[in-house]
Amino acid sequence: MKGIILAGGHGTRLRPMTLVTSKQLLPVYDRPMIFFPINTLIQAGIKDILIIVAPDRAGDFLRVLGSGKNWGVKFTYEIQDKPSGLPEAFIIGSDFIDQDSVTMILGDNIVLGREEEVRRAITTFTRGNRVFATKVSDPGRFGVIEFDKNHQVKSIEEKPLRPKSDYIIMGLYIFDNQVVQIAKSLIPSARGELEITDILKVYLSRQELDVKLFSGEWFDTGTPDSLLRASNYVADHQRDQNT
Ligand code: TTP
Repeated sequence: MKGIILAGGHGTRLRPMTLVTSKQLLPVYDRPMIFFPINTLIQAGIKDILIIVAPDRAGDFLRVLGSGKNWGVKFTYEIQDKPSGLPEAFIIGSDFIDQDSVTMILGDNIVLGREEEVRRAITTFTRGNRVFATKVSDPGRFGVIEFDKNHQVKSIEEKPLRPKSDYIIMGLYIFDNQVVQIAKSLIPSARGELEITDILKVYLSRQELDVKLFSGEWFDTGTPDSLLRASNYVADHQRDQNT
């Protein structure tokens, strides 16, 4: 199992902070945001991690993260010239992935608690596509997943105006090697990006999409409010652990 952290993007919603450096290097309480997704992959036993960054920020990532030796893992870096969608990670990373399966986590996604559940979902993975769903109050910002009465996936929609459920797909995805070919065959959506939900729909049509409900804490830290919520949660959690 290989690991990819997608840490490019514009970070427009966090301007002016992201005029200084990349969003994923901004602090969440006492450490750079990207430390959290790195930990998620490492806790799942992944030792070979590709970090995809924007061209003008590559130096910042190298300075902060280096080779990975301090973490006991190996970091490889690739540049995404412009942010044209999450599936590009599998095109940019195709040589890195080689013949293996891959777990991708977004550099601004923080997954806390239920570490064992996440670790098991990754270590027991054999084929297809496994994703995590969680309930949120603002589903329209994300890929929304609708279930039928038998808890089977009924639909997946990217950033719908009228979400059909409160369940969204977290930015932590496990794929078998088919993902590389599927990503290469995608065409951009109306907003001009390749969409990760289009990959999930292919796996769904092949009856190879496995959705796990996640009951720990999950933050997408792309807005000032969600970044503050994540920082407060981490600070409270650490204080609890120290008392
Ligand atoms: P987003 O939060 O959707 O995009 P963004 O980071 O550019 O922020 P904004 O919308 O405020 O401009 O991206 C989610 C994560 O995926 C984030 O960590 C950046 C990363 N990303 C890439 O690295 N490349 C891409 O092509 C896209 C779309 C996102």
